[in-house]
Amino acid sequence: MNDASPDVRRRVMDLRAQIDHHNHRYYVLDDPEISDQEFDELFRELTRLEKEHPELDDPNSPSRRIGGAVASGFEEYVHALPMLSLDNAMGLEQWDEFVVRVRKGLGDRGAAFWVDPKMDGLAVEIVYERGKLVRAATRGDGVRGEDVTDNMRTVRNLPLELKPGKGVEVPALLDVRGEVVIAKKDFARLNERQDKAGQKTFANPRNAAAGSLRQLDSRITASRPLRFLGYGVGRVEWASPLFAWSSQSEIMDGLERLGLSIPERAQLVEDADGVARLYEKLLAERDELPYEIDGMVAKVDRLEDQRALGATSRAPRWAIALKFPALQAQTKLLGIRIQVGRTGVLTPVAELE
Ligand code: IVH
Repeated sequence: MNDASPDVRRRVMDLRAQIDHHNHRYYVLDDPEISDQEFDELFRELTRLEKEHPELDDPNSPSRRIGGAVASGFEEYVHALPMLSLDNAMGLEQWDEFVVRVRKGLGDRGAAFWVDPKMDGLAVEIVYERGKLVRAATRGDGVRGEDVTDNMRTVRNLPLELKPGKGVEVPALLDVRGEVVIAKKDFARLNERQDKAGQKTFANPRNAAAGSLRQLDSRITASRPLRFLGYGVGRVEWASPLFAWSSQSEIMDGLERLGLSIPERAQLVEDADGVARLYEKLLAERDELPYEIDGMVAKVDRLEDQRALGATSRAPRWAIALKFPALQAQTKLLGIRIQVGRTGVLTPVAELE
């Protein structure tokens, strides 16, 4: 059947809007308004109408969240602005050194810092044109990544369309950058499921997230509990000259108001000492976070200051990753095996539980 009646067209638009709304309530705000059954009913009605009226097809329909597209490979995507890396501080001493450099760079002035957890997943950029998701790509080497648009459409907490929020219009063009992660408890469940199905289990949430995103069959990606947490932007272009973001905190607030998830515990810190205190606190409370983190990232808050500090070809001078010591765990030593190398060298190898 083709040429849907205005009534059907309106119903499809209405169902998409309702489903988007409830997805946001459930996956972003963690505060659902309707039951799973009620949600499924809306979803089923939408997929039925879309099947009957293929002319109403839309790549950003929430029905795409269940996947379907099967690719033969991933196309290359060249980032409009390179996705830089981060310098590391291995502890508070190196943090102090960073603060000295920043202070110098700003003409002997201190700065406020935006701090977010350093999530252990993989970096992805999402391109929104007039609010519509048009492209998603992995970071790759920072210049070239892989186009993973169909797979990212299945990530439940990622808006397929941005809605204007309080005090923020939808940008004409917006590159949102963030990390694709799997929560610790979702990871445990995923591995159980893989194990029961006789499929290979994953070593850690990061590997599971990376493996899930790089599936050629988007239905497999759709079945994995991936989440996208925004931490920054690339290109930003506004339709009206009334809007502009002037700090990292405004950007993060804006992303949230447009419907994106940002990491919990992300916050503005008044000065460098406050960042050092937050480091100790987050290090102690690291286990309480739903996602694995390997440190936190501190970013000079004012964009004007960021521009003044600039970047090397590799990493910005206005941001640093404050790493946590590697996670330690206990296990039992089952035995020690002597391995004989190719040249006859003997190497003791620990067998751990
Ligand atoms: S900001 C210009 N913030 O760390 C600043 N990166 O080592 C660029 N990452 O490729 C990155 N959490 O994958 C930033 N809160 C966070 C992050 C974060 C994790 C990753 C990201 C990036 C890598 C750089």
